[in-house]
Amino acid sequence: MIAFLVLSFLGAGTVGADRAVTFENPNPCAVEGSSVEFRCLYNYQNGQTVRKTEWYKGEFKNDVWIRVKLSDLASYRNRFEFIGDQQHDCSLALHDLQHSDTGYYYFRFDTDRFGWRSKTSVYLSVTELHVRLYPDTVRAGDSVSLQCNTSCHLSSTVWFKDGHPVSKPEFQAQAEDAGNYFCAVEGQESVQSEPVALDVQYPPLNVSVKVTYPDNLNESSSVNLTCSSSANPAAQNYTWFRRTASPSSGSSSIFQVGSGQVLSLPSMEVNHTGLYLCQARNTVGETNSTEVLLTISAKNYGLFHLGVTRNHTEITKELWSSFSLSQVILLIGVKVVILLLLTLVIIWAGRHIRIKNEEENDHDYENESTGV
Ligand SMILES: *[C@@H]1O[C@H](CO)[C@@H](O)[C@H](O)[C@H]1NC(C)=O
Ligand SMILES: *[C@@H]1O[C@H](CO)[C@@H](O)[C@H](O)[C@H]1NC(C)=O
Ligand SMILES: *[C@@H]1O[C@H](CO)[C@@H](O)[C@H](O)[C@H]1NC(C)=O
Ligand SMILES: *[C@@H]1O[C@H](CO)[C@@H](O)[C@H](O)[C@H]1NC(C)=O
Ligand SMILES: *[C@@H]1O[C@H](CO)[C@@H](O)[C@H](O)[C@H]1NC(C)=O
Ligand SMILES: *[C@@H]1O[C@H](CO)[C@@H](O)[C@H](O)[C@H]1NC(C)=O
Ligand SMILES: *[C@@H]1O[C@H](CO)[C@@H](O)[C@H](O)[C@H]1NC(C)=O
Ligand SMILES: *[C@@H]1O[C@H](CO)[C@@H](O)[C@H](O)[C@H]1NC(C)=O
Repeated sequence: MIAFLVLSFLGAGTVGADRAVTFENPNPCAVEGSSVEFRCLYNYQNGQTVRKTEWYKGEFKNDVWIRVKLSDLASYRNRFEFIGDQQHDCSLALHDLQHSDTGYYYFRFDTDRFGWRSKTSVYLSVTELHVRLYPDTVRAGDSVSLQCNTSCHLSSTVWFKDGHPVSKPEFQAQAEDAGNYFCAVEGQESVQSEPVALDVQYPPLNVSVKVTYPDNLNESSSVNLTCSSSANPAAQNYTWFRRTASPSSGSSSIFQVGSGQVLSLPSMEVNHTGLYLCQARNTVGETNSTEVLLTISAKNYGLFHLGVTRNHTEITKELWSSFSLSQVILLIGVKVVILLLLTLVIIWAGRHIRIKNEEENDHDYENESTGV
């Protein structure tokens, strides 16, 4: 009879232990790699001294649930920390959470008179962060929404793009918004999702024409016009146009003169003169470059004049050349020799005429004097 009473008292004591240990949040959820704290309080009758505290993990072994001390589990080594005390705080911290940490946790304490173990438990869920971009490919100007998905409710997450904080998870995408996005747990920013790329497509921008020609121009030199642009996806097709003024009507006409990124004018022809523009096209759209004025005129002695004018307003950049420099010097030399010869001839002729005149005058004079 006495034994029964003692047993029933012990039994009542065990039931009372449930109320003796209380967990603030019995169903916490945390992200893999982060830390979590189980806030916990324990109570016992006054006058007892706490001798021992211990946290256990519920493990399913050989078809039965058993409780194993965290301190006996190798996988928890250096990752769990009792942050309570020997009075009433039984809080536990778990660090660097792993998927296998998911499960039931129990607390037990021993006073000088009894051992109490919690009948209820903390059930921890360990989850991952997954980034979703809606949509993940957009055209400039479209709106994008970033979502940080987990299997449980997290208090707060923050966003980063290529390591820099993102202020709003919903925005209208611009070209510069392309990049790799990840989300993180607020306050534990080192716990991050895998990054996900956002692709922002836009039509060709900054379409420009560059003119290249060899240093030593001659009539068989080719002049290249290269079209460049910044586009996503990269420009696939280029079309070249030439605008020419018809002096008779005063209007201008435009022709398609080629395709491809480089328009090569094979030789210095006066009829290549005109306003050139290229049109760059990708799947999103097409954009025209500004016009470049190319003037080619033939000069005397085979000298060519190539002018490149951009924007209508810029001063013509001129380049005079033909043959090699020595040939030009030779030409000038020939010109100088001819001029010298001409001068000599003129001088000689002038003198000759004057001498002749003088002679004639003398003669006349002689004749006259003779005649006198
Ligand atoms: C969030 O993730 C869960 C599992 O990881 C998945 O079942 C669910 O469809 C996702 N939700 C969204 C909106 O993508
Ligand atoms: C276009 O050019 C401007 C000025 O040179 C530059 O600031 C801008 O980033 C360029 N845009 C792209 C998409 O390259
Ligand atoms: C012009 O382009 C052609 C072919 O694209 C190349 O062979 C030539 O060297 C280029 N000339 C110049 C002056 O860039
Ligand atoms: C023109 O110059 C090129 C080199 O730039 C040379 O190969 C070619 O022979 C020259 N043609 C004439 C007609 O001078
Ligand atoms: C320019 O003139 C040459 C002959 O001088 C001719 O072969 C060529 O087709 C002309 N090009 C254009 C665009 O009219
Ligand atoms: C580029 O040109 C090719 C051939 O003409 C055509 O099939 C393709 O659709 C064009 N691409 C674009 C973006 O216009
Ligand atoms: C680009 O230039 C071509 C030729 O002048 C013209 O037909 C077309 O409309 C222009 N495109 C734009 C977007 O201005
Ligand atoms: C064309 O003109 C604009 C402004 O009128 C100027 O900003 C730009 O630099 C010019 N482009 C070139 C190639 O000179």
